[in-house]
Amino acid sequence: MLVLGIECTAHTLGASVVQGNPAKPFSASSTRILSNVNAKFPASAEGFIPRKLADHHAKNFKSVASSALGQAGVSPGELDAVAYSYGPGIGHSLHVGLVAAKSFSLALGIPLVGVNHALAHVEVARFFCGLHDPLAVYVSGGNTQVLSLEGARGSRRYRVLGETLDIGLGNLLDLLGRRMGLEPPDAVGVLKAAQKGRTLLDLPYSVKGMNASYTGLLTAAEKLRGTARPEDLCFSVQETAFSMLCETAEKALVISKKKQLVLVGGNARNQRLQQMVSLVCAEHGVKFGVPSFEYCGDNGGMIALTGFFQLCSRFGFGREPSQRVRIDDETVSW
Ligand code: FE2
Repeated sequence: MLVLGIECTAHTLGASVVQGNPAKPFSASSTRILSNVNAKFPASAEGFIPRKLADHHAKNFKSVASSALGQAGVSPGELDAVAYSYGPGIGHSLHVGLVAAKSFSLALGIPLVGVNHALAHVEVARFFCGLHDPLAVYVSGGNTQVLSLEGARGSRRYRVLGETLDIGLGNLLDLLGRRMGLEPPDAVGVLKAAQKGRTLLDLPYSVKGMNASYTGLLTAAEKLRGTARPEDLCFSVQETAFSMLCETAEKALVISKKKQLVLVGGNARNQRLQQMVSLVCAEHGVKFGVPSFEYCGDNGGMIALTGFFQLCSRFGFGREPSQRVRIDDETVSW
């Protein structure tokens, strides 16, 4: 079976082709991502304007989709289905993805499958890390959640054990990078500056049960701009925010008794966060996994892969975009 996947929830337009055997969907030997082509709207000081994102995705769709099919060596007529990210995300972007996916579906007479973007981040990590029953720590611009896969096989769901009470951890870092005028003006700029930090500043640490709050940390950091060294400020915000996340993940490990943990989402690329979460895992005798750089951020491969799993379970056909859908709305039936 060949599935085209289209990612289109926020800043990244992605397309990918996955090949797999429906009789063994989770087998690493028979399921392969044949191509994974992505075009990211560049970060800027003005942030992401939804209309501009939609224009970028529409303008680049032909070249991204053509490259994905070309690199996979697959012609459109060979596709068995098309999957697209139906949410959560930015409305303007989601609708470009729907139109593109629906066009393939109607022109080729193949099924259209809606994939939950958050679920795809976790599923691509489960698949590549070979950790099939993990606690998932999902960290991106819009999302920060600690998730436990629970239930009977065939009807499992990700239960949200903890999450942000306000903004995502990635959003905190992106906003800080933008307001400090770092290069690039996002979480990557913060990481680069933090690597030269020496002094840990006193900043608000806000964990409530297994949830965390990040806006107070951002406000406090902004008040220190101009007085603290930028490198120390970035270092201190990262250390404080990551410690909060580690505390919630550690509590969730103890409660869920999971013996595996995957770190997923765009901010899973941060080496310091990987180091801190892996230390928590080592202390508890838990296997730690993180996908390769390519599959941490938004990408078409995770949508094609999860769409393939859903097709094997005949799940998620013809969904309309939804900005607010959550991962705990989804059934993991594969
Ligand atoms: Fe994402």
